[in-house]
Amino acid sequence: MSTTIQVGIITVSDRASRGEYDDLGGPAIKKASEAYGWHVLAEALVPDEKSEIQRAIREEIRRGCQLILTTGGTGVALRDVTPEAVREIAIRELPGFGEVMRIESMKITKNAILSRNLAAVVDHALIICLPGKPSGAVECLGFVVGAIPHCVEVLQEVPTSC
Ligand code: MTE
Repeated sequence: MSTTIQVGIITVSDRASRGEYDDLGGPAIKKASEAYGWHVLAEALVPDEKSEIQRAIREEIRRGCQLILTTGGTGVALRDVTPEAVREIAIRELPGFGEVMRIESMKITKNAILSRNLAAVVDHALIICLPGKPSGAVECLGFVVGAIPHCVEVLQEVPTSC
């Protein structure tokens, strides 16, 4: 892809949004995104509420984000609703992203089987939902990064060779 990917980051956490602890996941993903040569255009911190997650995604798309990375809310706790929030507004899901993230993460931690990481398309944007643990989020992004530029290019309807 010839143009820089415009990225939005959303940290989903009740406790970080209440200021009970610092958001470490968002900054970790930002650092990884910049290392991939992408431009971080927008950042948000929201509680584990479907409506807040959906509002943040729509706002970042409105601001021009082509790729939105969320961290948190993908586990088994009753408050974890990030996958449900994204699926409700998605045009389609891209199951390969979640499959690869779980398979590769299982080599690092057995708890990865609990993760409900996913990728989906909302409008023209690729949304990728990563775990809440900062190192896990960066690891999972690394497992799927190879497919991201082509996917973003296709969704932006840039002419492509394959
Ligand atoms: N994936 C990777 N690569 N590395 C990790 O450390 N942590 C797991 C999993 N995926 C982890 C990982 C853990 S402990 C959980 S509970 C699930 O992601 C869900 O995380 P979340 O609820 O913080 O989103």
